[in-house]
Amino acid sequence: MKDNTIIIYKSSTGFTKKYAQMISDETGCPLVDFKNATAKTMSAYERVVFGSRAHAGRIDGYSKIKEMFHKSAARSLVLFVTGAMPAEAEDTIKAFWAQNLGSQQSKIPHFYLPAGLCYERMSLPDKLMMKAAAAMMKKKKDKTVEDLEFERAIAGSYDISDRAYIEPLVSFLGRSSR
Ligand SMILES: Cc1cc2nc3c(=O)[nH]c(=O)nc-3n(C[C@H](O)[C@H](O)[C@H](O)COP(=O)(O)O)c2cc1C
Repeated sequence: MKDNTIIIYKSSTGFTKKYAQMISDETGCPLVDFKNATAKTMSAYERVVFGSRAHAGRIDGYSKIKEMFHKSAARSLVLFVTGAMPAEAEDTIKAFWAQNLGSQQSKIPHFYLPAGLCYERMSLPDKLMMKAAAAMMKKKKDKTVEDLEFERAIAGSYDISDRAYIEPLVSFLGRSSR
């Protein structure tokens, strides 16, 4: 299966890139940065794995990848998304996939990989978005447990990434014989 799958990743602060590299190491699948990916790149492979981050409830770059995929000769698409949500936030993760994939959920295999937040490497627009979210939370009255958790989670950088989280995706793709 080695050369029939390509991994395309989009990463801003490095979590998705790190996970994509781990998955590539385990499966032997080649790795391409989203910036260099085209429909032609995809066409040389049967299967495309797209890895990206959750960004304000959306999969960053997903529309563009879908467009490329439909123009390409590749046959199937698999997604993995990294984010700040811990693995335990099952309902939020479920809602995230429902919102992003809708009726495609059963057709597109998808995997969530907990990552964290890295303010040191964040772009200015992203930092401003986080600052606005923190200010909104600060002002909010009658905060729920979830609000308090969210407020605490976005207060600073943290890394909850773990190699173990790639296991289900690696098993799905098949391990390299190398
Ligand atoms: C503006 C902004 C919005 C974000 N929105 C979400 C989100 O909706 N859900 C989530 O789990 N993580 C969210 N995150 C966290 C990122 O998804 C997480 O840090 C991700 O692993 C970053 O990947 P990267 O390092 O490859 O860029 C957000 C981060 C930023 C900066």
